[in-house]
Amino acid sequence: MDSKLVSSTVKVDVEGLKKAFKNLYGVDPLLVRSPGRINIIGEHTDYNEGFVMPAAIDKAIYIGISKREDDQVHLFAKDYEQTHTVALSALAPSEKGWPNYILGVADQLQKRGYTLGGFNLYIDGDVPLGAGLSSSAAVECATAYALDQLFSLSVAQLDLALIAQKAEHVFAGVSCGIMDQFASVFGKKDHAILLDCRSMEYEYLPLDLGDYKLLLLNTNVKHSLSDSAYNERRSQCEQGVAWVKEKFPEVNSLRDVTLAMLKECVEPKDHNVFVKCRFVVAEIERLGRAADFLKQGNLDALGKLMLETHDGLSKDYEVSCSELDFLVDRVRDLDFVLGARMMGGGFGGCTINIVKTAYIDELIKTVSAGYLQEFGLKLDAYVVETASGTSQIIEY
Ligand code: GLA
Repeated sequence: MDSKLVSSTVKVDVEGLKKAFKNLYGVDPLLVRSPGRINIIGEHTDYNEGFVMPAAIDKAIYIGISKREDDQVHLFAKDYEQTHTVALSALAPSEKGWPNYILGVADQLQKRGYTLGGFNLYIDGDVPLGAGLSSSAAVECATAYALDQLFSLSVAQLDLALIAQKAEHVFAGVSCGIMDQFASVFGKKDHAILLDCRSMEYEYLPLDLGDYKLLLLNTNVKHSLSDSAYNERRSQCEQGVAWVKEKFPEVNSLRDVTLAMLKECVEPKDHNVFVKCRFVVAEIERLGRAADFLKQGNLDALGKLMLETHDGLSKDYEVSCSELDFLVDRVRDLDFVLGARMMGGGFGGCTINIVKTAYIDELIKTVSAGYLQEFGLKLDAYVVETASGTSQIIEY
């Protein structure tokens, strides 16, 4: 893991964070940064043992941490201007929400037999919350790494991601896959990660976009059904696999399933489950083609696949919403936009777009105006660069 971070990657006022930490806790902190993520293609495939193609971005969560003499955990979140205090021996989910991504990680580490002591933690960052850029995974990974460094735990890099994922399951109640945490820990500047979520083998793919850039358009909505629908989709996939398994016992996940198997074993039982599983099977296959196109530098073809993914997520998997569909529909026929789609779990957050650099400002202006008119909502736009994964900040 990169332990020394180049100063250009640090966007938040780290000097300010350090001072605020000292004011609050009276000592200097150890500083850790963990990035948010985008995903080029491969959505809702991670928990089906398929492939994903995420990248870490230049928006990150920053944590300051120090040891305490007692067994207390003292937290402060800059975004909420809130504190939270709990004993290490009594870690439990809090109604405040934000502490759970930190406490859940401490809890997982303890459950795996690592010995922690009391600690002070200060959290800041510039990953927009609820925007589908995995601020929660970034908090979890930053916490896991910060505790690892503070208490010299020597947790393997992959385990940091797995511990962070488990924390999300147990303390946040979302049965997420591994994509977000993996991307936050393993991100590499100028690369996407082609991750096989079954074997956990991965490959860095150079993300050379030439005259194009990645533009995120943030709907600024997060519909409340997102967590429950996410868990429901996951069970629908599991149901489909269980039905296929009755006939084909060698099958363990949708990764092993073909369309023919779905038609034979799932369609007669439940059309809706069939449609959901069909999307995942198609998306896993689509990602294989997308990776080949990226390797060949064929961004045009990659972009077309992103649009196909969006349509599948919207019509078949039903995890989009009118705001996301609007943003994709507005840009899909523009010849300076190669691809566009909703990104992440769904029901709000951002679309990801590959846009010719020279046209970005104009696109943001027109789409924002249309979005405001249609929904009465402000659109936020971010041109993102890829970045390295979780690391300690030594120089800044
Ligand atoms: C969320 C989850 C990920 C993944 C995506 C959908 O971001 O946390 O594990 O399932 O949704 O691809």
